[in-house]
Amino acid sequence: MKNPTPASTTSCTPAAARSVLWCVFVVMLLGVQAVSAKKIVFPSSGNPTCPGNRLHKITLVQSNYVQYSEFVTPVPALRAVSTCFWMTVQDANRAATPLNYAVDEQDNTDNLTVQYRPSEGSWTLNINGVRVYTARAVPLTPQRWHHLCHSWDGATGQWSVWQDGSLMDSGVNTRSIGTEIPAGGTMVTGQHQNTLANMGMDAGEGLTGSLTLLHVSSTPLGNPQSYPTLRLVQHLATDCTATDRGDVVGWLRTPTRGYGGVLQEVAFQNCGRF
Ligand SMILES: *[C@@H]1O[C@H](CO)[C@@H](O)[C@H](O)[C@H]1NC(C)=O
Repeated sequence: MKNPTPASTTSCTPAAARSVLWCVFVVMLLGVQAVSAKKIVFPSSGNPTCPGNRLHKITLVQSNYVQYSEFVTPVPALRAVSTCFWMTVQDANRAATPLNYAVDEQDNTDNLTVQYRPSEGSWTLNINGVRVYTARAVPLTPQRWHHLCHSWDGATGQWSVWQDGSLMDSGVNTRSIGTEIPAGGTMVTGQHQNTLANMGMDAGEGLTGSLTLLHVSSTPLGNPQSYPTLRLVQHLATDCTATDRGDVVGWLRTPTRGYGGVLQEVAFQNCGRF
């Protein structure tokens, strides 16, 4: 699962001319896999591909093979984390794992895991194998795009979960204070990394649906009760332009490696109608 990656493939910023050339090369290699100029069906694994300047979305169906997308980038140690993303689910009752990060292949599950568990009516965050929160979930409407944000601050223990620009749940987990998510692991979207079974993935927790504009930041969203935080999340939920965000993972910047036939398509920069 963790293939060493040349440094030149870990960034796609326009400033890094070498990376851009590499990206062009990778895109040419992937050209043979492309259904059309606008659609890429990733092979089971392969070279990382760069997001490019246009907004894209990915779709996972989890049939026959587990499907997920790996963010090919070095992940630093994190003492706080926030992630926002747009997601649709195909099936109202199926669990989904929009974000998972694992460090150790032998114990390869939960250094950071954000999961939607509709059967329990909850969103969960696990860090280093420990549950940080079980938040109330408002059910996602199948086939509809929803904007989600999750935030945890290891300095205060404060966490929050947002859906479509509104605060869904928040709290303080004092036991999580001082926890550090270790550096150097593998971050994926769409699946929960596990040891051995299903190519190291847990088939039952894989997303069937689509994702776009997924960003991961090393800073928390801020006090969930404060007006500036609400305004920030509302802004993120209504600005769907191809804007570079997320210092850990940037949807428009971080190269990905798709597994199992992940479909990548160009998306409209139009919230909820990608
Ligand atoms: C990573 O997560 C696993 C649980 O899946 C945990 O046992 C391990 O201690 C974590 N690593 C670190 C360095 O905290």
